[in-house]
Amino acid sequence: MTDTKYNAGARALHWLIALLIVVNIALGLLHDPLEEVVSLMPAHKAIGMSVLALSVVRLGWRMAWTAPAYPASMTALETRAAKLLHGVLYLFMIAMPLSGWIMSSAGKYPLSWFGLFDLPKLPVVKDSPIAGIAHEMHEVGGYLLIALVLGHVLAALRHHFVLKDGILRRML
Ligand code: HEM
Ligand code: HEM
Repeated sequence: MTDTKYNAGARALHWLIALLIVVNIALGLLHDPLEEVVSLMPAHKAIGMSVLALSVVRLGWRMAWTAPAYPASMTALETRAAKLLHGVLYLFMIAMPLSGWIMSSAGKYPLSWFGLFDLPKLPVVKDSPIAGIAHEMHEVGGYLLIALVLGHVLAALRHHFVLKDGILRRML
């Protein structure tokens, strides 16, 4: 059992970013089938750029404190696997919006943040290899991220319902 919690800032950022990412995966996947009905891309881009900004803040916040220690019941392999998966999730929280930003910078549409203001575009030329690679990364990355998040949620539920070691509670 562990009583120590992640601090309030870390918990708030975790759940806000998690919600935005889940919504954005849904918008990304629904964009194609619903294209004739509704334009989901502007919201997808604005939410994704918000995830990028919040993730940079979150990483800075994370570096400023020490995470609560794992319970002694977890083996060295389990703690290493948890840290590795969390590191990969952080990587995707940056790489997904960044690849989207690069690919969309090569497109003709402005990058509007919910119609309030335009975000800058990166200097990427249409049909350039960089835009193509970013597009591929974004598509493949989207599916990998779904698998990673599912694994993460299953691990959290295993800790809560099977191991009953308080890991989920420290993020609530
Ligand atoms: C949390 C961040 C993001 C996530 C999780 C995410 C996820 C996804 C997913 C799952 C797809 C569908 C992939 C497919 O089936 O082809 C997609 C498509 C797309 N995303 Fe993102 N995205 C994010 C951020 C962004 C950002 C910041 C932009 C642009 C500024 C962007 C632009 C696009 C575009 C243009 C497509 C359509 C690509 C196509 O139809 O070929 N995304 N995204
Ligand atoms: C898109 C969705 C999500 C992302 C990107 C994400 C990402 C992360 C990351 C990066 C950490 C590491 C925190 C740190 O030590 O700095 C973390 C921790 C955690 N997450 Fe998530 N998360 C997501 C959704 C969820 C969901 C839905 C649950 C619950 C079912 C959950 C439960 C937890 C728990 C319990 C921890 C603490 C684990 C520990 O103490 O080692 N997460 N999450």
